[in-house]
This record gives sequence, C-alpha cells and structure tokens, in this order.
Amino acid sequence: MSVGDPRDVVAAKRDGRHLSEQELAWFVQSYARGEIPDYLAAAFLMACFIRGLDAEETVALTRAMIDSGATLALRGISRPKVDKHSTGGVADGVTLVFAPIAASLGLAVAKLSGRGLGHTGGTLDKLEAIPGLRTDLEPAAFERQVEEVGCAVAAQTADLVPADGALYALRDATATVPSIPLIAASVMSKKLAVATDLVLLDVKAGSGAFMKTVDDAEALARACTRVADDWGRPCRAAVTDMSQPLGEAIGNALDVAEAVDLLSGRAHGRLRALAVMFAGEAVSRLTGAPMGEGRERAARAIDSGQALETFRRMVEAQGGDPRVVDDPAGVLPAAPVVRPVVADRDGYLAGVDAEALGRASGDLGAGRKRKGDPIDPAVGIVFRLKVGDPLQRGEEIGAVHARDEAAAEGCARRVLAAMSISEGAVEPPPLVHAWFGGSEGVG
Ligand code: URA
Repeated sequence: MSVGDPRDVVAAKRDGRHLSEQELAWFVQSYARGEIPDYLAAAFLMACFIRGLDAEETVALTRAMIDSGATLALRGISRPKVDKHSTGGVADGVTLVFAPIAASLGLAVAKLSGRGLGHTGGTLDKLEAIPGLRTDLEPAAFERQVEEVGCAVAAQTADLVPADGALYALRDATATVPSIPLIAASVMSKKLAVATDLVLLDVKAGSGAFMKTVDDAEALARACTRVADDWGRPCRAAVTDMSQPLGEAIGNALDVAEAVDLLSGRAHGRLRALAVMFAGEAVSRLTGAPMGEGRERAARAIDSGQALETFRRMVEAQGGDPRVVDDPAGVLPAAPVVRPVVADRDGYLAGVDAEALGRASGDLGAGRKRKGDPIDPAVGIVFRLKVGDPLQRGEEIGAVHARDEAAAEGCARRVLAAMSISEGAVEPPPLVHAWFGGSEGVG
C-alpha cells in the first residue's frame, strides 16, 4: 500500500502522533526495498527513539518487519520446538549449555543467532572458535540437524527479517539502539519469524547489559511478551542479573571451554544454574511436567553425560572437531600469553563493571569495533569472582589471555579497575529478578 510521502510519517512521529499499522508497514517495507533513503529512515528512528511507540505501534512495527522477508516454518521437525534468546551480556554462554540440555531431553532447539555486539559476546563467534565448525547452514540442513540431533545454532540468513537487518545497522550508526520498543520489535521479529512452540527470553539487567536498570529490563520484558501474546506465540521472559559477568570466561574459545566444563558436570555456578532453569522451563511448558521436575531433569541431563554427548553431536554435525568435548585445551586455539590477575587488596567483591570487562576483552581482540571486523578466538579474560566473594591480596582471581605481554598487562589493570571492594560482607544479587509472560511473577 502507499501512504504518500515518507516525510509525513516522520513528521507525525516527530509530533508525537500515534502511527497506524498501515503507515508503519508502508514505511518499513519501503525502506527495506530501498525506496526510502537512509536520512529519512534515520530521522524516523530518532523520532521513535524520542517519542516512543505504544504497545499497538510496537506490535505493528514487529509485524511489518516480519512481513519484509521469508519465515522459517520448520515443518520437518517432529519434536516440540523451543527458541531461547538473550538480549546480550558478558560471559553469557547460556545458549551453549541450554541447547544441548534441552535437545537431550527430547526438545528441538532451532537457534538462529547473532554475532557479538558492542561489549557483548555472540554465540556464533564463540562456536566458530571450534576448528572447522560452520554456522552458515542452509535452511534444509539446519532443519535436518535439528530433527536428528535436537539442536543447531546457525547464522540468520539475509532473507529472514531483512528490515531488521537494515534498520539495526542504521540504529547502530545513529545512536538509536537503546530504545525499548525498537529493541522489542527487533528481537521479537526474529523470534516470531521462526515457527517454534515456545520462545524463552533472557532479558539482562545491569552493568553488562543494554538495559542498565531492572525497571528498564522489566519494561522490555513486558514489551516483548505483549508482542508475542498478540502474535499468539507462547513466550516467557526472565529478567536476569547482568550486574556482573554471568560465567567466568569472557572471550570465545574460553567460553567454549567453560561450556564443556559445565556440560561435563565438572563446574557449577550461576551460568549452569541459569541454563538449567531455562531448560527446566522449556521442559515443563512443552511437556506439562511440573516445574521442579523440569529443572531436575535438566540437571540430570548434565550429570548423566547426555547433554555433553548431544553437544558433541551438534559440533560434529556442523563440521567442528568433536574432540573439543574430550580435550578442549588441545583442540581450541590458545593465546600465546596467559597472565594471572592477582587481587591487590583484601575484602569482599562489592561490584564489578561488567561492561568494562566486556570492552577490555573486546580490545584484546575478542570483539569487534565494526560489523564485519575479524575477531581473535583465542584471547579474552577469565574472571572467577562473583559479587559477595571474599578475596585476599595476592590471590589469583583470574587470568588474561592475550597476544602479547603489553596487552595482557594493560588488560589486567583494567580488570582490577573494574572491581569495587568492600571491607564488610556483601549480599550477592539475585540471579533472576522476575518472570513475565504466561503466569507472571512465578519464579
Ligand atoms: N538485540 C537485537 O536483536 N536487537 C536489538 O535491537 C538489540 C539487541
């Protein structure tokens, strides 16, 4: 349909007017087809950023973005299908642990993932640290793998929600990323374009997240679940703690090694707890099992070795070296310099700037400054402390994996500067703040 002049749509939002479904659909799809120039779309995004979008407009924007391209029906998959998405964090390797757990319990995890963005890591970058592993799977191969193995993690193809690809790049270039309705439409368009039975969202809140406060993260979780409700897709969103790195590894190969450690049952902690919680949620929502039982089955999938075996099969199916499961250190790329990080005072960890750690790891080469930049899979930071932990001067609290001594030294200083230490004991933050969607508030 034609609404007329795109400047009228920009002016309407600039003046705070509610945009109709037709206006949004026409503007977004015309832009995706290259019929509206970037400068007008940039003005539109800034008007949306400043004026906001109400619930109806957010749904309409999401719908317009989905309608801009292909969708993935996943008709060849007989298992119950679940998708899990994180809004982005630091040491956030939940998908690497969640997917094999859920798959080993009979569910299908069809995961189209993104690359690292800003200071946050990306699942594709982490997995591609495994020698040989490919994430550019054709839709038919992706679907076959999900049916046979139970999980596949692949890059989103360019024909799926092309309007989001184009608008996201423009948002990145025009300082319009951190807008709750724009993020909700961006995330949900990609989730709803893939026909799963359940969407689980991990909405991060805190220093390492895009949403720095729990209130903003809760508003984002509500906006996302409202869009899913309107679409008729079951969706549950957890607002989870990102006031500190979730796991210990902030890099790419280092994250894979940590995931293997967790899946083998050797390691425990907040990352395992969150992956088990999401897998338990998926099992109970999709099979009708009580919540406690879902979580127990998820924990047993790790302890029995089934989840690790499923991870091995996923890696192998995607062309990666499956020996990574038996000997991660022998298979994964390693940095030439590994420098311990040593505490410079006694006390308790009172807080840590997770974004600063994400940026420090990115500057070692683990992240990219611009879309398309190469990354170094071997480098990164291991940070072992969690808020509330006691520490002693001289104690080894982590390590920097770097290309040279100077980079390692500078990064170790940044790690220490990111920490705040208290003399008295500190209460650890909760792992999960609240759940939204379905039966809200159930923990
Ligand atoms: N992740 C997305 O997919 N979109 C956003 O807008 C922000 C984070």
